[in-house]
Amino acid sequence: MNTSVPTSVYAQRRARMAQQLGSNGIAIVPTAPERQRNRDSDFLFRHDSYFYYLTGFTEPHAWLVVTSDGQSTLFCQPKDLEREIWDGYRLGPEAAAGALGVQAAYPVGDLDQQLPRLLENREVVWFPFAIHEGLEQRVAGWLNQVRARVRYGAMCPEQQRDLCAVLDEMRLVKDAHEQDIMRRAAAISARAHVRAMQTCAAMLRAGKDVREYHLDAELMHEFRMGGSQYPAYSSIVAAGANACVLHYRADVAPVRAGELVLIDAGCELDGYASDITRTFPADGRFTGPQRALYDLVLASQEAAAAVTRPGARFTDPHEAAVKVLAQGMLDVGLLDKDKVGTLDDVIEKRAYFPFYMHRTGHWLGMDVHDAGSYVEPGEVGQVSERKDPLSGETIKNRPSRILQPGMVLTIEPGIYVRPGEGVPEHFHNIGIRIEDDAIVTAQGCELITRGVPVKADELEALMRD
Ligand code: GLY
Ligand code: MN
Ligand code: MN
Repeated sequence: MNTSVPTSVYAQRRARMAQQLGSNGIAIVPTAPERQRNRDSDFLFRHDSYFYYLTGFTEPHAWLVVTSDGQSTLFCQPKDLEREIWDGYRLGPEAAAGALGVQAAYPVGDLDQQLPRLLENREVVWFPFAIHEGLEQRVAGWLNQVRARVRYGAMCPEQQRDLCAVLDEMRLVKDAHEQDIMRRAAAISARAHVRAMQTCAAMLRAGKDVREYHLDAELMHEFRMGGSQYPAYSSIVAAGANACVLHYRADVAPVRAGELVLIDAGCELDGYASDITRTFPADGRFTGPQRALYDLVLASQEAAAAVTRPGARFTDPHEAAVKVLAQGMLDVGLLDKDKVGTLDDVIEKRAYFPFYMHRTGHWLGMDVHDAGSYVEPGEVGQVSERKDPLSGETIKNRPSRILQPGMVLTIEPGIYVRPGEGVPEHFHNIGIRIEDDAIVTAQGCELITRGVPVKADELEALMRD
């Protein structure tokens, strides 16, 4: 259970959700299943984010049912001394009402018996669509049991609706408790990046063989020392040319002086993710071409952060970053003016795409790529069409989300230079990304990950010490 957030906060979230279920609806939210890794070993269990958002409860085999009148029922593992000796403590239904503030609790084995009763005489049944394997069939089975009773006057729900839409909107704006946890997660991750950088330089100075996995180990050390439960995603530790592989993992490649190292890693703390990328010279000194591209990526991130504020669109930081990157690519000779034309041409034709092929950010929260629509809800009907200059595809656009205080997003521009015709050789195999996590505030945004330096001079100084 997450004890850093009061039980009343989860009760308030359930009440807010209940108000959106219609006059006579019911919502069913399971936690995640346990997943087998091999034979009788499971992957480390990670609760379902929606379930956790509404309960703070982290045990497997648990379900939440909420009705429009605000009544919550929890199904959880029963107390069982023998199983608890093997697998650990269970809260049990008897203690659940008091501990979680739900109105009723049953052993999870009673689900098939209780659900038809709970569904009877409801108009709409809500559950997360296309997330839990087999849930649709399970709901259908319960509804069938209700239908079998209609001749005795029972009413069966006639509508099924996707609960994700309701919960995604709620999750998009983080409350003070969530922001507090995210700041703490960000601080731990920042320390982990500092530790990995300093270890890298120190090991190279000592003449040691440094591998990507050594730096991964340093990250993990700091995550766990800070109280984080696990990484929020598989850490990327990419030495040299590996940085140009966007979804690279920490592997065995040697980390060599003179090359850059890109680390994209963040911990999960009490259910909330952090997501930081830093790119640094392995031996603590940027070469001229590395520094030129690094300063360009940093300038583009500063431009993106400057427009991250309430009232701006989600796409504004991306557009600001692209403008700086595209101009920089022309200035440093990554793009040839004679071939690609002016800055406007580069943006219009997306000529920067071979070197910058991803978006500048995403929502961040319980999931590293968090829930929440990227389209402004009041404007979904305003569809425009444009032809993509690279693929020739016709793309339908809807107005991008308007930022509000409490939304959290990453700002993560980059440049990735694979060797190719006309690409200046001194830039070959340089991959740089700089990623920080931003909470939208009343005036602008708060970068919560700046516990790890970002300016080139500061990185060099950090690695000298
Ligand atoms: N680490 C995943 C991402 O940056 O989106
Ligand atoms: Mn990210
Ligand atoms: Mn990242």
